[in-house]
Amino acid sequence: MYKITTAEKFLWDGLTLDNKLVLEGGTSWGNTTDIIAQKTAEHGWKTRLISVDVDDSHFSEIEKRLGTSFVELNLRKADLGNLDFINENTIDVVICNYTLSSVNQFPFRGVKALKEFYRVLKPGGKLLITEEMPIWSVDSKDYEYWSKRLRIIKSISVLKAMAHFNEIHPQDLEEVMITLGFKNINRREFKEVIDAEMATKFLDKRKQTLIKGQDDLQNQQVTKGFVELTEKLVKEFENAKEFSAPAYIIKAEK
Ligand SMILES: C[S@@+](CC[C@H](N)C(=O)[O-])C[C@H]1O[C@@H](n2cnc3c(N)ncnc32)[C@H](O)[C@@H]1O
Repeated sequence: MYKITTAEKFLWDGLTLDNKLVLEGGTSWGNTTDIIAQKTAEHGWKTRLISVDVDDSHFSEIEKRLGTSFVELNLRKADLGNLDFINENTIDVVICNYTLSSVNQFPFRGVKALKEFYRVLKPGGKLLITEEMPIWSVDSKDYEYWSKRLRIIKSISVLKAMAHFNEIHPQDLEEVMITLGFKNINRREFKEVIDAEMATKFLDKRKQTLIKGQDDLQNQQVTKGFVELTEKLVKEFENAKEFSAPAYIIKAEK
């Protein structure tokens, strides 16, 4: 879904994963895992990768697709806030793309994950984070679809008392990282390119949660209204292939 093309150079600048032990935070469907595999193939790097997610539903397809791309691939179901199966000072590079705001569904869990990244990194080890900008800075004509989509997804989550993403402003993230001891922090904002089909599928999934639990809200008009809003947005963008979203990358060292 996220393409990380416009900021690709900044993300990978000066980074080698040759003979490195890399930790990926938030495997999901393997979007970033694919990118890391492409880079290792391009450069002939010999890389060991541990990729962690609380949700292991894509692990077997990723294992089939990328099992031979790394010297070692360890897909691990775990909470990034508790990496007790990784010793301190053992990881060379942590890559965590579009995951911290998801970890942050529970207040302070994102900070726990950052604390774990710091603990497992070797001194001088690198941390690379890519994140979405918070919604209140998204409300702009440049990001019309993204802002409407986020507003609907979050409203449905709040109505249904479901946990939802909490994006972190880059300045706040930088301050927490400094508090935890990270140094040489460098960040850049960029326009992310989003695959419209996948983003719309996710929106449709949220609609299904409304339809399935239609009695939850005890008000059919509210449910119907949100279903209509979601369908209208899906229709509005059904011919779009891609759209933009505001994002940022933060790089730091232990
Ligand atoms: C948007 S997806 C990641 C996208 C992917 N990294 C990419 O580059 O496109 C966010 C992932 O974070 C995972 N996640 C959420 N909370 C987590 C936690 N506490 N520990 C580990 N993974 C978590 C979710 O299961 C989900 O797969």
